[in-house]
Amino acid sequence: MKGKNCLIFGGSGQIGRHLIRKLTKNDYRVIVVTRNIHQKGHIIKTQGNAGYIDIVEANIFDEAKIKGLFERADICINLVGILYEKKRSSFNNIHTLFPSLLAKLCKQNNFKHLIHLSALGINEATESAYAKTKLDGEKEILKNFPLSTILRPSVVYSVDDNFTTNFMTLLNILPIFPLYYNGQTKFMPIHSSDLVDVIYNVISGKIYSQIIECVGTETLTLKEIIEKLLGLIDKRRILLPVPLFFGKLSAKFFQLFPKPLLTEDQLILLKYNNIISGKYKTNADIGFPAKCLFEKEVEKYCYMWRQGGQFSRNNVSKKK
Ligand SMILES: NC(=O)c1ccc[n+]([C@@H]2O[C@H](COP(=O)([O-])OP(=O)(O)OC[C@H]3O[C@@H](n4cnc5c(N)ncnc54)[C@H](OP(=O)(O)O)[C@@H]3O)[C@@H](O)[C@H]2O)c1
Repeated sequence: MKGKNCLIFGGSGQIGRHLIRKLTKNDYRVIVVTRNIHQKGHIIKTQGNAGYIDIVEANIFDEAKIKGLFERADICINLVGILYEKKRSSFNNIHTLFPSLLAKLCKQNNFKHLIHLSALGINEATESAYAKTKLDGEKEILKNFPLSTILRPSVVYSVDDNFTTNFMTLLNILPIFPLYYNGQTKFMPIHSSDLVDVIYNVISGKIYSQIIECVGTETLTLKEIIEKLLGLIDKRRILLPVPLFFGKLSAKFFQLFPKPLLTEDQLILLKYNNIISGKYKTNADIGFPAKCLFEKEVEKYCYMWRQGGQFSRNNVSKKK
């Protein structure tokens, strides 16, 4: 099927799972590359009907293996990204070198499209290694395959996220919750399904060569987000603004762990509002505004963090 075969990198993640469901429902066949088929195979395989998903285990820098996959598709989607560095998974390798490799392969194979997930606010957060390498990755992509479309989402949430779910876990345990920068950093959280709608429409509507900022329906400060989550899980906690030096100290400590709760680089990112810049088109400008409301969506899965777990579900709806 010409034009209906997508090669997806990072498809086992939060956005990838939603995207595979959307694409396969709409008759797209997908090849999904993962580093570990044993760990991720069942997650990927169960997102679509039999016959629509092909899973390939590969190191994303194994050029010989990756090259072969480009002969079997015509659209490439890059969802690989990291929040902290680990051994050889440096920001530079993942956010800059890998997208550059993909763009070159897309060009060599006359691909119809490359959709690359970048991040909102990277022009502003110049001291952050995450932001700098994402920006360099975008430049590499546009230089090597100008037909690409780059999407810059604000923070993405859903039941599969590492954002609302991590916060609700922490809020459950901690009596006092620290707020850096007084919790005043602004976000425009977008639900995974809204973002996937944008990706799908970019592919099917053949929207090329643009940077698009993807945002949700509301602008919320971090403090407002935490307060909403506390309300949803029915907990009261002290939200304590803490000085930056304490934040830096705790980040230094946390980043020693294999899955750090906070890193120094994330602390830098938190200094900048994560909202539309006004310099690029948004998902609403290209005709696909977000529909989901933050509180309404999180209410659907927050019961797992409430006292009584799933059995408290009725109480949530009664209260509203
Ligand atoms: N989630 C957000 O709030 C958000 C906000 C802005 C931008 N983004 C960007 O959107 C993209 C997708 O986000 P997501 O939330 O779906 O990410 P995710 O859930 O963390 O998944 C990312 C995927 O990337 C692959 N991956 C991670 N580290 C890798 C490595 N070292 N080598 C090879 N593959 C690796 C993993 O696939 P395997 O384990 O199967 O190999 C993983 O499933 C990323 O580029 C991210 O930066 C996300």
